[in-house]
Amino acid sequence: MNYKEIFSKINESLNQTKDSGKVASYIKELGNVDPTKFGIHLTTVNHLHYHFGDSEEKFSIQSIAKVLALVLAYKLEDEKLWERVGVEPSGTSFNSLFQLEFDKGIPRNPLINSGALVISDILVSHLNNPKKDFMEFLKNVSGNSEIDYCQRIAESEKLTGHRNAALINLMKSFGNIKNDIDEVLDFYFNLCSIEMTCRELSKTFLFMAAYGVNPYNDEIILSVSKSKRINAILQLCGFYDEAGEFAFKVGLPGKSGVGGGIVAILPNKYSIAVWSPRLNKKGNSSKGIKFLELFTTETETSIF
Ligand code: DON
Repeated sequence: MNYKEIFSKINESLNQTKDSGKVASYIKELGNVDPTKFGIHLTTVNHLHYHFGDSEEKFSIQSIAKVLALVLAYKLEDEKLWERVGVEPSGTSFNSLFQLEFDKGIPRNPLINSGALVISDILVSHLNNPKKDFMEFLKNVSGNSEIDYCQRIAESEKLTGHRNAALINLMKSFGNIKNDIDEVLDFYFNLCSIEMTCRELSKTFLFMAAYGVNPYNDEIILSVSKSKRINAILQLCGFYDEAGEFAFKVGLPGKSGVGGGIVAILPNKYSIAVWSPRLNKKGNSSKGIKFLELFTTETETSIF
């Protein structure tokens, strides 16, 4: 399939309508991004690469990194992990507080902020030097030693992270956070600050299309069963209160971030990363979702 030609054709049709939405500004540093950026990179399980636009430019992957933290926590804890976090779609925005009180401090899933904070707490418990050890894991998974945190973004988020502070304090009161709150928040803000290009992001997530096998060294990152389960969580929870809409329109497991990135996976075929910073009302990339809807329709490659 000539994906590159399809990217270009879809881009032309998207250019017929005005790009809607707003760049995230609740983290000051994210507000400085050029809203017209648009990049795509698709990597097939046979290591073929197709790209378009600003695919080689680094951007803040934000919540997409929650998936990689979840993968490591699942490796370390096995099924015990699900005693502290659920696997149900939340139907609420990513930083919502109200369900957590009702659910006695157990987040509905690991991809909303409360869930990712519990996952961060688990990693802080397991890892000797959490930020350094997590980055080593990520460099191995991605086959790329160039990936890193962005101190500027992490510091900027710390200044306005009041909802995350509220979520973690509430969970601590229910006994679902074991470590020092500031240490866990620091890990979480750094996690969200990781920067990648579309090419790096697509390559990093290729193991999720390869049933958990690292395509760069054949190492088993996740068992087939665990990789199926993580993809199921992506399908049901990857876009918060827009997860149903994303399944309905795109039909792939995926994850968004407020930096405007989206990664989506077609098992046994490809991993695709898209970046467009303007977000819709649900906090997901507006053009990114429209592009993926047209792409899976045109290529008939949804999982359904
Ligand atoms: O916790 C936050 O507010 C951000 N660092 C991550 C949010 C995010 O990317 C939500 N996803 N669409």
